[in-house]
Amino acid sequence: MTKSYDLILRNGQAVLPWGVERTDIGVTAGRIAAMGDLRGVEGETIDCAHLHILPGIIDAHVHLRDPGDPAVETLESGTRAALLGGIATVFDMPNTTPSITSSEQLEWKRGYAQGRAWCDIGFYVGGAKSNLDDLARLEIEPNVCAVKIFAGSSTGDLLVEDDVSLERAMRSGRRPIAYHSEDEYRLQARKPAYEGGGPHRLHAEWRDVECALIGTKRLVALARKTGRPAHILHVSTAEELEFLGQCRDIASVEVLLNHLTQTDEAYDRLGGMAVMNPPIRDARHMEAAWEAMANGTIDVVGSDHAPHSRAAKARPWPATAAGLTGVQTILPLMLDHVSAGRLSLSRLADVMAAGPARIYGAVGKGRLALGYDADFTLVDMGQRRVIEESWIVSPCGWTPFAGHACQGWPMATIIRGHVAMRDDQVLGAPAGRLVTFR
Ligand code: DOR
Ligand code: ZN
Repeated sequence: MTKSYDLILRNGQAVLPWGVERTDIGVTAGRIAAMGDLRGVEGETIDCAHLHILPGIIDAHVHLRDPGDPAVETLESGTRAALLGGIATVFDMPNTTPSITSSEQLEWKRGYAQGRAWCDIGFYVGGAKSNLDDLARLEIEPNVCAVKIFAGSSTGDLLVEDDVSLERAMRSGRRPIAYHSEDEYRLQARKPAYEGGGPHRLHAEWRDVECALIGTKRLVALARKTGRPAHILHVSTAEELEFLGQCRDIASVEVLLNHLTQTDEAYDRLGGMAVMNPPIRDARHMEAAWEAMANGTIDVVGSDHAPHSRAAKARPWPATAAGLTGVQTILPLMLDHVSAGRLSLSRLADVMAAGPARIYGAVGKGRLALGYDADFTLVDMGQRRVIEESWIVSPCGWTPFAGHACQGWPMATIIRGHVAMRDDQVLGAPAGRLVTFR
């Protein structure tokens, strides 16, 4: 009997954990079943001769706003945006309206995502002062990627700012906690000075380097005291990166595409469309982020896809809503960074697939290896394409990267052997499944 597979990716440059190799990949029942020379073997075939095969890319930091305002974003539209941008899996943040902080809400979300999610999805559960002692139970609920704690206030009502409450949270459970790390006391102390408003760049002056650094040092000290791993989200300063490079025993690091791509000139060019938390900063910090990419300090690169209405973004600062869309654009922009020689495709796969899978313990994700989920992002490094606002499918309808030309583009997104996006078309029905975590 001749061997056959459900799907064969033929002759692509596969970004394997141990290097980039030209190989065929065979898929059976949604899993990687063979890697090597599959000439003569039968199966539905995708010719990948001019493509790189990345492990299905994971965006571990998206705010899909569901429940919330469907005119801005929904779980359906946000996961469709993900597929178009080459993202196979997203982890969805809990600062919705209302926030996701209980078993009942998680159960609702699991049911709601079935038949609506276009890509695979995991959920954060929000840490709040009302559920601190429940976190050990909540973090092991099915499909929960992590507890998210806002130690500094941002969009929504989630906030755990004091050491006593933070320590209580850390002592409840054992998996890494993902933190928004800006020191709330310093944020509030400095706020009155900026209430008169002014140019958008004041956002970075108010939420300054010290806010981020003090916040991160406090969290790491508590993490050491309690032995509870800390995953510091969207690290935005040179000072934190240097500090966290010495804390690998207890802390892991996420950096955002924005902090690798934008500097404070963006405030003059984009106004409210440059406002996010933590803020976009000057070039010194962007350079430090690339150094941290090169020396291995960065574990995860995420988008912090955080849609707001155009009206909310147009409000004069400091009332401007903070947050930028990004799930659809993060991979094209990272591929452009690869083309510019700032990182290799292997390092990209490390921070956008293997890294998130490792930090959050996602089962079967993040790696091109036998037995793993057949999640693939096929990219053409020869494609040059300009990001256009009309391409954005999130209902809010804008991107801070409109007009940005990218060398390198995602051509297909495959989830568990199902071709879910190809040549800019989303195919079939929403087939995303819930991710399981260790
Ligand atoms: O800019 C941000 N927007 N930072 C956050 O921490 C939250 C996010 C949002 O949900 O809008
Ligand atoms: Zn976020």
